[in-house]
Amino acid sequence: MSGVSAGFPDRRMRRMRANAAFRRLVAEHRLSVDDLVAPLFVKEGIDSPEPVVSMPGVAQHSIESLRQEVRILAGLGVPAVMLFGIPAAKDGRGSGADAADGIVQVALRALRDDVGDSMLLITDDCLDEFTDHGHCGILTADGRVDNDATIDRYGAIAVAQADAGADVIAPSGMMDGQVRAIRAALDGAGHAEVPILAYAAKYASALYGPFRDAAECAPAFGDRRSYQMDPPNGREAFAEVALDLHEGADMVMVKPAIAYLDVIARLRDRFEVPIAAYHVSGEYAMIKAAAANDWIDGTAVALEHLVAIKRAGADFILTYLAREAAELLQ
Ligand code: PBG
Repeated sequence: MSGVSAGFPDRRMRRMRANAAFRRLVAEHRLSVDDLVAPLFVKEGIDSPEPVVSMPGVAQHSIESLRQEVRILAGLGVPAVMLFGIPAAKDGRGSGADAADGIVQVALRALRDDVGDSMLLITDDCLDEFTDHGHCGILTADGRVDNDATIDRYGAIAVAQADAGADVIAPSGMMDGQVRAIRAALDGAGHAEVPILAYAAKYASALYGPFRDAAECAPAFGDRRSYQMDPPNGREAFAEVALDLHEGADMVMVKPAIAYLDVIARLRDRFEVPIAAYHVSGEYAMIKAAAANDWIDGTAVALEHLVAIKRAGADFILTYLAREAAELLQ
């Protein structure tokens, strides 16, 4: 191997670790505020934020507290937020998701005026927060998720979100053909300039538990394994990403992050498009719970997780740690 001396002892590997300045100089990756996207929850019909117990530091926001949080994030230089809505009323088809006065659309209009183009407003395009059964799609009479009826709904949701000012649409439902349906709907409604961030390799993970508290979207029966990816599968992520790009995705996402760093790294080698990673609710909750017990140094583990995701090859990271990481990186 070039550059490695045959003689012993060789101090080569330690010389450049001697102090912080040297480590900074030779660091291969660094986390920047520019890498961070803050996922935020906004709930219809509340006047003040409601803490999410399983995600310390995260709240379901009112419109006002959301505006305040987004102003703080913009001030810290965070380039984007991802919005999730919790409607006051749910039904079988998730009507609140694409209603012009649905909670996400109301939030988008308020935030658009506040932040202008200093920050990207990304929206989750899915139905689980809005359906009374908690599944990501429309159900057939026998209780299965109907793929094609669902992607029509995703198209309508994307248009409602773009009409309300969304900068990027992020479909997370893992239905076949969802990117194509959304692209066609956006283009047909005069939103050809709005890009799609596809949750391309989204696994059926047990790490989404706290999110389902935050977004009040645990499925009333069954699970999401018939549409989300099976955790043992890595190669399959190539097919998911290739299909989404073929259908018109501009950026792709791997989710969760830490348990799927191999998937991020393999996709990085194969595809040129921007790759996002979602450090999910369970990954966040594990850090917070262990830190609260003084079992780990929460701040150090948080930064280690985030730089590991960069090292694996992600271009940006959706993380509930965005605000605290941005504060540390000022
Ligand atoms: C679905 C969606 C989920 C998450 C993001 N979008 C939940 C799910 O698939 O069950 C999970 C994110 C997290 O755990 O932080 N709309």
